Amino acid sequence: MASNIKVFIRVRPGRPAPGFKVDEEKKTLIFEHEKTSPDYDVNNQKAAHSFQFDGVLGMQIKQQEVLDIIAKPVIEDVLQGVNGTIFAYGQTGSGKTFTITGGASNYEDRGLIPRTIRLMFEAFRKGPAQYRMYISYLEIYQDSGYDLLRDDSVRRLEDLPKVALREDEDGNTHLRNLSVNLAASEEDALNLLFLGDTNRVVAETPMNDASTRSHCLFIIWVDSTQSGSDVVRRSKLHLVDLAGSERVSQTGVDGKLLAEAKAINLSLHYLERVIVALHSRSKGVQAHVPYRDSMMTSVLRDSLGGNCRTTMVGCIAGEASNIPESISTCRFAQRVAQITNNARVNEELDPNLLISRLKREVAELKEEVKVARASRDGQEAEALTTEGLDQCRALVQQFVSKGVKSEEPFMCGSIERLRACFRILRDMCIEREGQQTQDLEDEGGAAALESEIKKLKLEVAQRDQEIAVMVKMLTKQRGDSRPFIAASSQPAAASPERTERANGSCPETATKQQALGSGNAPPTSETAKSAAPQDKTDKRRLPQPTMPPADEAAELLLDKQKALEVFWQKVYKPPEAFKENKALLKERIEQAQALGKEAVQLKAEIDSVKSRLLRLRTERAMTAAGYDDSAPVEDGPEELAEVAEIERLKSQYREKTGELRRVKSDVEGIQRLLEQNQVKVRREFENWFAGLRSRANLSKMDEDKKKELFDKAGFWTIGP
Ligand SMILES: Nc1ncnc2c1ncn2[C@@H]1O[C@H](COP(=O)(O)OP(=O)(O)O)[C@@H](O)[C@H]1O
Ligand SMILES: [Mg+2]
Repeated sequence: MASNIKVFIRVRPGRPAPGFKVDEEKKTLIFEHEKTSPDYDVNNQKAAHSFQFDGVLGMQIKQQEVLDIIAKPVIEDVLQGVNGTIFAYGQTGSGKTFTITGGASNYEDRGLIPRTIRLMFEAFRKGPAQYRMYISYLEIYQDSGYDLLRDDSVRRLEDLPKVALREDEDGNTHLRNLSVNLAASEEDALNLLFLGDTNRVVAETPMNDASTRSHCLFIIWVDSTQSGSDVVRRSKLHLVDLAGSERVSQTGVDGKLLAEAKAINLSLHYLERVIVALHSRSKGVQAHVPYRDSMMTSVLRDSLGGNCRTTMVGCIAGEASNIPESISTCRFAQRVAQITNNARVNEELDPNLLISRLKREVAELKEEVKVARASRDGQEAEALTTEGLDQCRALVQQFVSKGVKSEEPFMCGSIERLRACFRILRDMCIEREGQQTQDLEDEGGAAALESEIKKLKLEVAQRDQEIAVMVKMLTKQRGDSRPFIAASSQPAAASPERTERANGSCPETATKQQALGSGNAPPTSETAKSAAPQDKTDKRRLPQPTMPPADEAAELLLDKQKALEVFWQKVYKPPEAFKENKALLKERIEQAQALGKEAVQLKAEIDSVKSRLLRLRTERAMTAAGYDDSAPVEDGPEELAEVAEIERLKSQYREKTGELRRVKSDVEGIQRLLEQNQVKVRREFENWFAGLRSRANLSKMDEDKKKELFDKAGFWTIGP
């Protein structure tokens, strides 16, 4: 299936420059400008640039729509055994991470990865095959790969296991030392995403702002087997968040940083070279495609010009200062759109499945030989007539009715008859088993629901309590206008030494930090400030956090608990999303409760219709003319109506429980998000705390204090 890479452009919300127009209907972007405007001086003096793509997603687009438009077709293919890649490209701050992973604070903002995971597990439940999902998460920083899913106590990127590239004799690249983790459920998969994202956040220090300079690949592997087949389909979906594509010339940084900036851009430069070579090839020019020049292009080799269904999302921002980068992204995207890939279904024979099928065949053949020997007199194989089948059915029924103790051999005369008898027996068993499981399922389902509702109720109570604590704290914080340090009279709330991963029941201290959301702390130390490349759009333009006066800073360095409390009460600004998440969590929990109640109600209705049906059937059997124990009595119109009613209620019941499952997973998702925010706040605090060092005024301090400071805070500038 040869097809071009699909290319979409997504425009981040913001105040667009006057000449910038987004036409979603015509899938077109137009950049108009004065010829003389220096902002638009991008190799070309045209007065307007116009670009058309497979789709243009405007500022208002919702994350769910992005999934529907961009990812769904790729996911459908992956479920069929075809490889897929979705990669986001664009300058820093243009919304790549927002698109691929999602916004950091608001649950509604979750991105393609968590939404894809949900969609896939829903498809697994409905699909015709048996599916298995495995997950890997790779970060590439300065051409080295790191496994984000190995450890949850990471402090620096370098602590993560390194992943290496290996090429086999057929020229296929493999990632050595990258873990592949089974995800048996949606929750498992989201937990892996959470672990990887947490590692990503923690490893991202202001000095190596990895989110800007590294590429992240979330890989979902899907295996599927159709029942009764020896063939297994293996496909993978790459969800790629590339490093910022801003040009070196515009970062305006000096010396060492320029070299580093070049290194970031180097891998994107190699990506461009690959795209250019593929572009030439698509025009029939023989060109060497330099995949091997960088780790990122090696890993994405299949996605670019290979066996893969690939989609690119170019992320752009429309503010005047971003226009040159946005145009450059559009140009790159247009080249990508010319590349042809050749995606195919990845099928292979699974030796284990093959062996078990062959074993079955051998057993059957052996039996056949036996029967053939027994009927050596040589009756020709006969095709079974309806009459013959009826005889077989009677033979099986007779055999079964003799009970388990009977030793009488089963004789039916020929291999065809023997096979037919087995089929009849199997159908009988399945029918009976189906009846039993249905009953059991109904019982078990109701019990599970009851306990689910109980759990959710507990959760509501707990969340209510946590929310009350947080609201109280926030109100206090807003109304508090005391001088900087005076607020620290109570004992501190949490130990800053460890990051707790709260599970289900979270202590109050953990909750505070979780619920207050993120905020992407800007770097505080001098070195960190100069390390960050100039960034026109994103977080680094946020105001610097408040620092205390010099002698108070020294005091705080001596008492980290107190510092944490001061940070909490005076410095930290909870994002707006806090309220939204809180409201959403409550809403979802209430929804879950309502759904649970409805499901229990439906179950009760089903039971009562069932007993009505039983009564009707008994009555009919008793009053039927020529009543005979052994002959089944046909259902009359009343019974048939009840049967239809049961079916209707059952389908409603299934709908409700399905919805309940989804809502429950939302609740878990919001909680996970809150947990992740906790990690971010912790990092912000550590940055701020480190910044206190450069503020501390030592001249007013006596020698003992200085010594204590040196011991406790590793203060290296102590001296006369
Ligand atoms: N479509 C969007 N809607 C709302 N906020 C967005 C959107 N795209 C990006 N943002 C916000 O803009 C900032 C930068 O986006 P981000 O995804 O981190 O950019 P990148 O990964 O390209 O550097 C983040 O705070 C993010 O939440
Ligand atoms: Mg990013």
